Amino acid sequence: QSAWTGVNERTFIAVKPDGVQRKLVGEIVRRFEKKGFKLVGLKLMQASEELLREHYSELRSKPFFRALIAYMGSGPVVAMVWQGLDVAKTARKMLGKTNPADSLPGTIRGDYCVEVGRNVIHGSDSVESAQREIALWFRQNELHCWEDNCNHWIY
Ligand code: TYD
Ligand code: MG
Repeated sequence: QSAWTGVNERTFIAVKPDGVQRKLVGEIVRRFEKKGFKLVGLKLMQASEELLREHYSELRSKPFFRALIAYMGSGPVVAMVWQGLDVAKTARKMLGKTNPADSLPGTIRGDYCVEVGRNVIHGSDSVESAQREIALWFRQNELHCWEDNCNHWIY
């Protein structure tokens, strides 16, 4: 197993409506770029209720589900796909915990929000979830393979 294992791993990240409204898109993109991940998909979009219900289908029996769907549909989101070594797990570390109150300073949720119901960003919780979510949010031709010729510096 070499250090290159998983270098093409992808994860789904979305700046939630509160993050867009608070102009956090640039800061969030900057963090992922500077970390060394590669942007392979990005779009500003209004998510439909149908898409959001599917995206969060595992949570449909939770008491906060209705409020979550309403919040996520309250304005446009920035949907992104990031690629790189161990990106799914690393992105979750960069996000912080689900509840911003439990998120350390230095994480996105730790630095930019206070409330679990307005936690500014989504990130897939595993490689398997990422594959499901990327297929749900993006068409194949919206994902771009490009050579940055920087992998030998980053990795
Ligand atoms: P979850 O998938 O558990 O968290 P994460 O986004 O860290 O993967 O929950 C999805 C979203 O649901 C979460 O980002 C915010 C919202 N949520 C609440 O509003 N209240 C809650 O108690 C929980 C657990 C989540
Ligand atoms: Mg989750």
